[in-house]
Amino acid sequence: MDEKQDALDRLMTAELSRRNFLKMSAFAGIAASVGGVVTLDFLSPSSAQAAKPFNFALMADHHTMGPKNNYMKLRCERAVEEMNKLNPQPDFLMSLGDHVHDGSDEQMKFFDEIFAPVKTKIKYITGEHDWYLDMGESYHKHFGETTYSWDQHGVHFIAMNTVHLRDFWTARGLTAEERMGYAGTLNSPVGGPFHVGEKQLGWLRDDLKKVKKSTPIIIFSHSPLYYYYKPWNFWTEDAPEVHLLLEGYEQVQVIHGHVHHIVKNRIGNINFDSSLSLGWPHPYPTSGLPAGSPQMPRANPANIYGGLGWELNRVGEDGGVDMRYHEWSREKV
Ligand SMILES: [Fe+2]
Ligand SMILES: [Fe+2]
Repeated sequence: MDEKQDALDRLMTAELSRRNFLKMSAFAGIAASVGGVVTLDFLSPSSAQAAKPFNFALMADHHTMGPKNNYMKLRCERAVEEMNKLNPQPDFLMSLGDHVHDGSDEQMKFFDEIFAPVKTKIKYITGEHDWYLDMGESYHKHFGETTYSWDQHGVHFIAMNTVHLRDFWTARGLTAEERMGYAGTLNSPVGGPFHVGEKQLGWLRDDLKKVKKSTPIIIFSHSPLYYYYKPWNFWTEDAPEVHLLLEGYEQVQVIHGHVHHIVKNRIGNINFDSSLSLGWPHPYPTSGLPAGSPQMPRANPANIYGGLGWELNRVGEDGGVDMRYHEWSREKV
């Protein structure tokens, strides 16, 4: 138990400090000197390898509301139109959750109609706005599974449902709409943090058993798979358990939605990047922003595309992801 707690603590403070770096350098030097040759193997480039470079597209946090908000529709249509013009087409489009705002079957039908013209294959994960009206019933009907993996071009892809909440509704006798309302409010007075959950952690443990340490891994989650900012639920409580399962893999990238702005982080061996939103931009939290995060221009309220966009990402030969933000604020509209 102590050993596990130690590992968790280490992972949550795992930005490699200069002090640790020097300690590791000294250790590696001494260890290798015993054999007479000094090598700093841990400084060598990753040997992780994808079969060939390729592109995939990302869209997130569309929050389509049906006919009651036409702006969301216009933004999604613009993204679809831009993506369909790409030649060659991306290998797939990952839609990172919060496809709709109120979780209804009607809104999901509306979403499906907007995205029907997409030429490439669409893959989905759920956000909290897709889930808490009917606990995933409409999500499954329209978008399929929430937890799955596949191998493509030498990369192991993992899609997860990271928006599990502890049951805050039964004891309070909340209606489905009230549950959805609380779950979908960032600074909700009830609801608590998101979880991956024991069942899915078990699934991940089994899934990774067949993946070599040198195989690049790309994980899609809705909420950030780390502790970013709890007051707005930019937080996954059991994320450190996921980090532990990923220890030792040479190339790991997590891409998440939910925060509606660009943010980067690195913890241990894992890179984290967010996707832009197609619905609206959230400001950065007042604290908790990881050091080195890029600043994002404030959205211009007169521009319905301000601070929004989507991504066409490039996976290189080492399996690393080059996040290529197609942010509309930076373009003439
Ligand atoms: Fe969202
Ligand atoms: Fe969300």
